[in-house]
Amino acid sequence: MPRRRALIAGNWKMHKTAAEAAVLTTEIRALLPAEPEVDVLLLPPYPCLQTVHGALQGDRRVQLGAQDCHWEDSGAFTGEVSAGMLAAWCQHVLVGHSERRQLFHESDGTVRAKLEAVLRSGMEPILAVGETEAERRSGATRDVLVRQARAGLVGLPREQVLLCTVAYEPVWAIGTGAAAEPGDIAEAALILRGVIEEAASGDAAEVRILYGGSVTPESAPALLSADGVAGALVGGASLSAPQFCGITAAASP
Ligand code: PGA
Repeated sequence: MPRRRALIAGNWKMHKTAAEAAVLTTEIRALLPAEPEVDVLLLPPYPCLQTVHGALQGDRRVQLGAQDCHWEDSGAFTGEVSAGMLAAWCQHVLVGHSERRQLFHESDGTVRAKLEAVLRSGMEPILAVGETEAERRSGATRDVLVRQARAGLVGLPREQVLLCTVAYEPVWAIGTGAAAEPGDIAEAALILRGVIEEAASGDAAEVRILYGGSVTPESAPALLSADGVAGALVGGASLSAPQFCGITAAASP
Protein backbone atom coordinates (compact mmCIF):
# COMPACT_ATOMS: atom_id res chain seq x y z
CA MET A 1 0.00 0.00 0.00
CA PRO A 2 1.57 3.32 -0.98
CA ARG A 3 1.92 6.05 1.61
CA ARG A 4 -1.19 8.23 1.52
CA ARG A 5 -0.91 11.80 0.31
CA ALA A 6 -0.88 14.69 2.76
CA LEU A 7 -3.99 15.69 4.70
CA ILE A 8 -4.63 19.30 5.67
CA ALA A 9 -7.38 19.51 8.29
CA GLY A 10 -8.93 22.75 9.50
CA ASN A 11 -10.15 22.65 13.11
CA TRP A 12 -12.50 25.60 13.42
CA LYS A 13 -12.95 24.99 17.18
CA MET A 14 -15.80 27.08 18.66
CA HIS A 15 -15.81 29.63 15.86
CA LYS A 16 -18.31 30.47 13.11
CA THR A 17 -22.08 30.57 13.06
CA ALA A 18 -23.74 28.50 10.38
CA ALA A 19 -24.04 31.57 8.13
CA GLU A 20 -20.35 32.40 8.59
CA ALA A 21 -19.42 28.78 8.02
CA ALA A 22 -21.21 28.78 4.67
CA VAL A 23 -19.25 31.86 3.59
CA LEU A 24 -15.91 30.39 4.68
CA THR A 25 -16.66 27.09 2.91
CA THR A 26 -17.51 28.91 -0.31
CA GLU A 27 -14.32 30.99 -0.06
CA ILE A 28 -12.21 27.88 0.48
CA ARG A 29 -13.80 26.13 -2.49
CA ALA A 30 -13.06 29.16 -4.67
CA LEU A 31 -9.38 29.21 -3.69
CA LEU A 32 -8.60 25.51 -3.94
CA PRO A 33 -7.08 24.33 -7.21
CA ALA A 34 -9.32 22.22 -9.46
CA GLU A 35 -7.37 19.11 -8.48
CA PRO A 36 -5.63 19.60 -5.14
CA GLU A 37 -2.64 17.37 -4.54
CA VAL A 38 -3.54 17.01 -0.88
CA ASP A 39 -6.61 15.78 0.98
CA VAL A 40 -8.54 18.68 2.50
CA LEU A 41 -10.74 18.29 5.57
CA LEU A 42 -12.92 20.79 7.40
CA LEU A 43 -13.87 20.29 11.06
CA PRO A 44 -16.63 22.82 11.81
CA PRO A 45 -18.65 23.00 15.04
CA TYR A 46 -21.57 20.56 15.20
CA PRO A 47 -24.35 23.05 14.30
CA CYS A 48 -22.48 24.04 11.13
CA LEU A 49 -22.04 20.54 9.74
CA GLN A 50 -25.25 20.42 7.78
CA THR A 51 -24.68 23.93 6.41
CA VAL A 52 -21.09 23.22 5.40
CA HIS A 53 -22.21 19.95 3.83
CA GLY A 54 -24.74 21.93 1.80
CA ALA A 55 -22.22 24.63 0.88
CA LEU A 56 -19.83 21.96 -0.40
CA GLN A 57 -22.43 20.94 -2.98
CA GLY A 58 -20.83 17.53 -3.34
CA ASP A 59 -17.37 19.04 -3.94
CA ARG A 60 -15.12 15.99 -3.84
CA ARG A 61 -12.03 18.06 -3.08
CA VAL A 62 -13.15 18.68 0.49
CA GLN A 63 -14.04 16.18 3.21
CA LEU A 64 -16.03 16.94 6.31
CA GLY A 65 -15.47 15.92 9.90
CA ALA A 66 -16.34 16.73 13.50
CA GLN A 67 -14.16 17.91 16.38
CA ASP A 68 -15.38 15.40 18.95
CA CYS A 69 -18.17 12.96 19.73
CA HIS A 70 -19.56 10.97 22.67
CA TRP A 71 -18.42 7.39 23.26
CA GLU A 72 -21.89 5.87 23.55
CA ASP A 73 -24.14 5.32 20.56
CA SER A 74 -27.15 6.91 22.29
CA GLY A 75 -28.53 7.51 25.76
CA ALA A 76 -29.25 10.01 28.51
CA PHE A 77 -26.24 12.28 27.94
CA THR A 78 -27.68 15.77 27.82
CA GLY A 79 -25.85 18.05 25.45
CA GLU A 80 -23.76 15.32 23.85
CA VAL A 81 -23.57 14.15 20.23
CA SER A 82 -22.95 10.54 19.21
CA ALA A 83 -20.71 9.39 16.39
CA GLY A 84 -23.69 7.83 14.67
CA MET A 85 -25.39 11.23 14.51
CA LEU A 86 -22.34 12.65 12.77
CA ALA A 87 -22.00 9.92 10.19
CA ALA A 88 -24.62 11.51 7.92
CA TRP A 89 -22.16 14.34 7.17
CA CYS A 90 -18.73 13.30 8.36
CA GLN A 91 -15.98 11.01 7.15
CA HIS A 92 -13.68 11.81 10.05
CA VAL A 93 -13.93 12.68 13.74
CA LEU A 94 -11.13 14.22 15.81
CA VAL A 95 -10.68 12.70 19.26
CA GLY A 96 -8.32 13.57 22.07
CA HIS A 97 -7.57 17.18 21.14
CA SER A 98 -5.57 18.69 23.99
CA GLU A 99 -8.35 21.20 24.68
CA ARG A 100 -10.67 18.24 25.31
CA ARG A 101 -8.06 16.51 27.45
CA GLN A 102 -7.20 19.61 29.48
CA LEU A 103 -10.35 21.73 29.69
CA PHE A 104 -12.82 18.84 29.75
CA HIS A 105 -10.67 16.38 31.69
CA GLU A 106 -10.78 13.61 29.10
CA SER A 107 -8.64 10.65 30.09
CA ASP A 108 -6.80 8.31 27.74
CA GLY A 109 -9.62 5.83 28.39
CA THR A 110 -12.29 8.31 27.37
CA VAL A 111 -10.40 9.17 24.21
CA ARG A 112 -10.07 5.48 23.36
CA ALA A 113 -13.79 4.91 23.88
CA LYS A 114 -14.55 7.83 21.59
CA LEU A 115 -12.15 6.54 18.95
CA GLU A 116 -13.90 3.16 19.01
CA ALA A 117 -17.27 4.89 18.69
CA VAL A 118 -16.03 6.68 15.56
CA LEU A 119 -14.93 3.38 14.03
CA ARG A 120 -18.23 1.69 14.98
CA SER A 121 -20.05 4.38 13.06
CA GLY A 122 -18.00 3.77 9.93
CA MET A 123 -15.85 6.90 10.10
CA GLU A 124 -12.11 7.47 10.40
CA PRO A 125 -10.71 8.80 13.69
CA ILE A 126 -7.99 11.41 13.99
CA LEU A 127 -6.26 10.80 17.30
CA ALA A 128 -4.57 13.90 18.71
CA VAL A 129 -1.65 13.45 21.10
CA GLY A 130 0.97 15.78 22.49
CA GLU A 131 2.97 16.80 25.52
CA THR A 132 2.47 19.91 27.64
CA GLU A 133 5.20 22.47 28.23
CA ALA A 134 5.84 21.03 31.72
CA GLU A 135 6.09 17.51 30.32
CA ARG A 136 8.51 18.68 27.67
CA ARG A 137 10.67 20.49 30.22
CA SER A 138 10.82 17.43 32.43
CA GLY A 139 11.90 15.22 29.53
CA ALA A 140 8.66 13.25 29.49
CA THR A 141 7.72 13.85 25.84
CA ARG A 142 8.45 10.30 24.67
CA ASP A 143 6.58 8.73 27.58
CA VAL A 144 3.54 10.94 27.05
CA LEU A 145 3.38 10.28 23.32
CA VAL A 146 3.80 6.54 23.75
CA ARG A 147 1.18 6.41 26.53
CA GLN A 148 -1.41 8.46 24.63
CA ALA A 149 -0.87 6.71 21.31
CA ARG A 150 -0.85 3.23 22.87
CA ALA A 151 -4.02 3.97 24.79
CA GLY A 152 -5.65 5.08 21.55
CA LEU A 153 -4.49 2.35 19.19
CA VAL A 154 -3.05 -0.80 20.73
CA GLY A 155 -5.55 -3.66 20.84
CA LEU A 156 -7.57 -2.50 17.86
CA PRO A 157 -7.79 -4.94 14.95
CA ARG A 158 -5.11 -4.10 12.37
CA GLU A 159 -7.71 -3.06 9.78
CA GLN A 160 -9.07 -0.47 12.22
CA VAL A 161 -5.62 0.88 13.03
CA LEU A 162 -5.16 1.46 9.32
CA LEU A 163 -8.22 3.74 9.29
CA CYS A 164 -6.71 6.08 11.89
CA THR A 165 -4.70 9.25 11.54
CA VAL A 166 -2.48 10.45 14.38
CA ALA A 167 -1.98 14.18 14.96
CA TYR A 168 1.09 15.23 16.92
CA GLU A 169 0.15 18.48 18.62
CA PRO A 170 2.56 19.72 21.29
CA VAL A 171 0.24 21.55 23.67
CA TRP A 172 2.67 24.45 24.09
CA ALA A 173 2.59 25.09 20.33
CA ILE A 174 -1.19 25.33 19.99
CA GLY A 175 -2.39 28.86 19.38
CA THR A 176 0.86 30.36 20.66
CA GLY A 177 2.62 31.26 17.43
CA ALA A 178 5.55 29.15 18.64
CA ALA A 179 5.55 26.06 16.44
CA ALA A 180 7.78 23.10 17.22
CA GLU A 181 11.09 22.68 15.39
CA PRO A 182 11.06 20.33 12.39
CA GLY A 183 13.70 18.18 14.10
CA ASP A 184 11.53 17.75 17.20
CA ILE A 185 8.49 17.00 15.05
CA ALA A 186 10.43 14.34 13.17
CA GLU A 187 11.53 12.79 16.47
CA ALA A 188 7.93 12.72 17.71
CA ALA A 189 6.76 11.25 14.40
CA LEU A 190 9.32 8.46 14.73
CA ILE A 191 8.09 7.65 18.23
CA LEU A 192 4.47 7.64 17.04
CA ARG A 193 5.32 5.52 14.00
CA GLY A 194 6.72 2.91 16.38
CA VAL A 195 3.45 2.75 18.31
CA ILE A 196 1.39 2.68 15.11
CA GLU A 197 3.42 -0.30 13.86
CA GLU A 198 3.10 -1.99 17.25
CA ALA A 199 -0.68 -1.52 17.10
CA ALA A 200 -0.89 -2.66 13.48
CA SER A 201 1.44 -5.61 14.08
CA GLY A 202 3.58 -4.49 11.16
CA ASP A 203 4.08 -1.80 8.59
CA ALA A 204 1.28 0.75 8.48
CA ALA A 205 2.57 3.37 6.08
CA GLU A 206 -0.97 4.39 5.17
CA VAL A 207 -1.57 5.73 8.69
CA ARG A 208 -0.74 9.39 8.40
CA ILE A 209 0.93 11.43 11.09
CA LEU A 210 -0.04 15.11 11.06
CA TYR A 211 1.62 18.00 12.85
CA GLY A 212 -0.48 20.65 14.58
CA GLY A 213 0.43 23.79 16.48
CA SER A 214 0.73 27.32 15.03
CA VAL A 215 0.83 26.19 11.41
CA THR A 216 0.61 29.16 9.01
CA PRO A 217 1.26 29.49 5.28
CA GLU A 218 4.67 30.91 6.22
CA SER A 219 5.65 28.17 8.67
CA ALA A 220 4.04 25.28 6.77
CA PRO A 221 6.86 24.52 4.28
CA ALA A 222 9.40 23.88 7.06
CA LEU A 223 6.95 22.14 9.42
CA LEU A 224 5.55 19.84 6.74
CA SER A 225 9.01 18.92 5.54
CA ALA A 226 9.68 17.21 8.88
CA ASP A 227 10.46 13.53 8.34
CA GLY A 228 7.49 11.26 8.87
CA VAL A 229 4.86 14.02 8.70
CA ALA A 230 2.07 13.83 6.11
CA GLY A 231 -0.01 16.91 6.68
CA ALA A 232 -1.24 19.35 9.29
CA LEU A 233 -4.02 19.97 11.77
CA VAL A 234 -4.60 23.70 11.55
CA GLY A 235 -6.46 25.79 14.11
CA GLY A 236 -6.30 29.59 13.89
CA ALA A 237 -5.17 29.76 10.27
CA SER A 238 -8.06 27.51 9.18
CA LEU A 239 -10.51 30.35 9.89
CA SER A 240 -9.19 32.34 6.94
CA ALA A 241 -9.66 30.90 3.44
CA PRO A 242 -6.47 32.48 2.01
CA GLN A 243 -4.39 31.24 4.93
CA PHE A 244 -5.90 27.76 4.96
CA CYS A 245 -5.57 27.37 1.21
CA GLY A 246 -2.03 28.78 1.44
CA ILE A 247 -1.21 25.89 3.76
CA THR A 248 -2.77 23.35 1.40
CA ALA A 249 -0.64 24.82 -1.39
CA ALA A 250 2.48 24.61 0.78
CA ALA A 251 1.72 20.96 1.47
CA SER A 252 1.35 20.05 -2.17
CA PRO A 253 4.25 18.06 -3.59
P1 PGA B 1 -3.39 26.39 16.09
O1 PGA B 1 -4.27 25.18 16.65
O2 PGA B 1 -3.12 26.10 14.63
O3 PGA B 1 -4.26 27.61 16.28
O4 PGA B 1 -2.15 26.43 16.88
C1 PGA B 1 -4.00 23.85 16.27
C2 PGA B 1 -5.00 22.92 16.90
O5 PGA B 1 -5.41 23.15 18.04
O6 PGA B 1 -5.40 21.92 16.29
